[in-house]
Amino acid sequence: GATQLAESRQVGTDKLDLQNVVDVAYSKYKDLQDGANADYIPILATVPSDLFGVVIATKDGQLFTAGDIDYKFSIQSVSKPFTAALVMQQMGPQALLDKIGVEPTGLPFNSKMALELYEQRSANPLVNAGAIAAVSLIQAESESDRWAQIKENLENFAGTELPLLDEVYQSEYETAWSNRAIANLLYNYNRLYSDPEQALRVYTQQCSLGVNTKDLAIMGATLANAGTNPLTGKLVLNSRHVPELLALMATAGFYDESGAWMYSAGLPAKTGVGGGIVAIVPGQFAIAAFSPRVNQAGNSIKAMKAIRFIAGELGVGLY
Ligand code: DON
Repeated sequence: GATQLAESRQVGTDKLDLQNVVDVAYSKYKDLQDGANADYIPILATVPSDLFGVVIATKDGQLFTAGDIDYKFSIQSVSKPFTAALVMQQMGPQALLDKIGVEPTGLPFNSKMALELYEQRSANPLVNAGAIAAVSLIQAESESDRWAQIKENLENFAGTELPLLDEVYQSEYETAWSNRAIANLLYNYNRLYSDPEQALRVYTQQCSLGVNTKDLAIMGATLANAGTNPLTGKLVLNSRHVPELLALMATAGFYDESGAWMYSAGLPAKTGVGGGIVAIVPGQFAIAAFSPRVNQAGNSIKAMKAIRFIAGELGVGLY
């Protein structure tokens, strides 16, 4: 029954098991060469492709690590659920539903077709359209205030200061024609809530923040810990809103691969084209991994495999 299931789920969370499974996942996939660095943001192609880090962070802040866990890479789309959390924190979950949407698109992260296809336009805050809309919804007095609030929120989740990787920002903003089109289309449909170029700039800055694999794991552990950062003790997201955010990550965290991810790993998670992924075992811990080579959908191949392996070994898939 339920008690038995709860007990069996605890079995894998023994400390020794956690370090061991991280070590095994790291050595199992470290030499894998599949995929390639994303290059539509030119500077991402220059990140050393063999980097690989794996971290579990528990809800009380313990870390279990292997590999290149201190290397700072751009957070990219892994930032999206955390800014969606700030929208919920400021305006409540209903506003997120009404002003952005929560439906998975089944289409790539940068789809313009999704915007034309669906009445909600922005679809959900985990694709580019919805993420740019989320940035535009932050209650800000100016562009610098908008950026300051978003950065501070991401830092509160990570429990540490996060640097803007200026070269990434420049490279991405100079080539942001697709996202500019998305921002302008949303504005045209009254589904963007600030000046479009301002939303584009701040969104691009958000994506260019530098994190390491440990930072990502702590961001996830804050969600595993019902919205309170385990390192700082700071309440970052009201615990009532954590389930809604995890539901979004479960249904749309991997774009057009969200179904395959949920089918095989069974955990809410978010990917970024910089190579980072964080997955959450609600109420227990987060698993983060980083490796720059991504597949067609923009999801890190090694990071996906490592997290899926760990979830399987520990038997922590939700279903
Ligand atoms: O807007 C973009 O295209 C990037 N800043 C983020 C895309 C991304 O991370 C997609 N993820 N897997």
